Amino acid sequence: MDVFRVNGGRPLRGTIQVSGAKNAVLPIFAAALLTDEAVTIRNVPNLSDVRFMAEIMRHLGAEVSADAPGTWTIRARTLDNRAPYDLVRKMRASVCLMGPLVARLRSAIVSLPGGCVIGPRPIDLHLKGFAALGCGVSIESGYVHLDGRHLRGADVFLGGRHGSTALGTANILMAAVLAPGRTRIESAACEPEIVDLCRLLVAMGAKISGIGSHALEIEGVERLHGATHTVIPDRIEAGTFLLAGAITGGDITVEGARGDHLAALLDKLRETGVPFETVGPETLRVRADRPHRRVPTDIVTMPHPGFATDLQAQMSALLAVTPGLSIVTEKVFPNRFMHVPELQRMGADIAIEGPSAIIKGSDRLSGAPVMASDLRASAALVLAALAAHGESWIQRVYHIDRGYDRVDERLRALGADIERLPAEAMPRHLVGE
Ligand code: EPU
Repeated sequence: MDVFRVNGGRPLRGTIQVSGAKNAVLPIFAAALLTDEAVTIRNVPNLSDVRFMAEIMRHLGAEVSADAPGTWTIRARTLDNRAPYDLVRKMRASVCLMGPLVARLRSAIVSLPGGCVIGPRPIDLHLKGFAALGCGVSIESGYVHLDGRHLRGADVFLGGRHGSTALGTANILMAAVLAPGRTRIESAACEPEIVDLCRLLVAMGAKISGIGSHALEIEGVERLHGATHTVIPDRIEAGTFLLAGAITGGDITVEGARGDHLAALLDKLRETGVPFETVGPETLRVRADRPHRRVPTDIVTMPHPGFATDLQAQMSALLAVTPGLSIVTEKVFPNRFMHVPELQRMGADIAIEGPSAIIKGSDRLSGAPVMASDLRASAALVLAALAAHGESWIQRVYHIDRGYDRVDERLRALGADIERLPAEAMPRHLVGE
């Protein structure tokens, strides 16, 4: 297990290229199972989650190959209907294999993924959607069994207590494209990653309207064919880099940062007084090296186009060094505050009150040994360490490798003093449990 050693306090400068979107590519890989023809996917990020997904799909019988850096081809001539626990538990996103399997084979047996550190992650809405499409749904010995012999189009409502569901929408959409008749998904997720999935499905011959809205209409077709697709840039990675520029008082140009995907973050950067400019439709530049005074703000996370829960921890790191009182409320995953105790170890003054973090921002944090607990929490720790005075050690960085390709190398190219070391290199007295 590697660790990061970070010496904070250096403003980052330069240009960085955003990778393809993790949360788009995972359901897109799954969608390739909907046809026996080859599907080629470009701009695939080099991430451990992508490799896990490839492994699970190979286990199901698909041929999955990385042809060139960032280009993968998937061909599922034959398929098995069973995704076992030891693979699914490694990556929760594999639940989105249910839709393609039941659509293609009319039967799926997929393990329930188990616990998740960011809080309870039920799949009741997915199952309700499959039942609405005429599937027999049962849970036996930790596995979801879907009997799709009577799969057909129907009206499906996917709204839950926390709004729409991204992977739930992906699942029902992928089942509906091959279900006879018309499906209407109300309260569908409209995240850019779902739009990207729709674009691939349409390229494969699916009939979908309302793309990008909360009401998707699908006319089932008998079969889909192969296609080539380029994945959108990762808006969460882009937002994380913009925040890295802001928190270090740097000047970073982020290529692959789409203003239309990041409107809620940009609105909050504007409100807090972080200088930035739009360089082009896919390029944003944060100019935090210019004289400015940051002011606190309130954030409420919501499904797209609201403020993304996947940027909450990183934004909280910025607010921890923004003098004044900020309140961050999690409406998507109300327990997603694992970064808070670690930021407190760096001197942040944050209190949790129910689904809210009350942040009393200070001028600076101080470096400390901290522990990464999940992907976005670890991104927040990296940002805090880059801004902190002194040295930080971040343990369990495999969490960050799940969603950010070579983040240490790329930040170093912007002038960050960050180093990846084997865990044994960490001074013993700093090692956490
Ligand atoms: N929910 C239910 N029932 C369901 C499904 C979801 O109550 O059947 C609730 C969840 O508990 C949560 C809310 O609905 O409160 C939204 O969850 P959603 O289903 O949208 O989450 P997801 O699709 O499982 C994706 C991303 C997450 C991201 C969320 C929210 C992927 C692979 N994962 O998860 O990404 O936080 O949407 O935007 O697309 C990450 O990248 O770090 C990450 C966790």
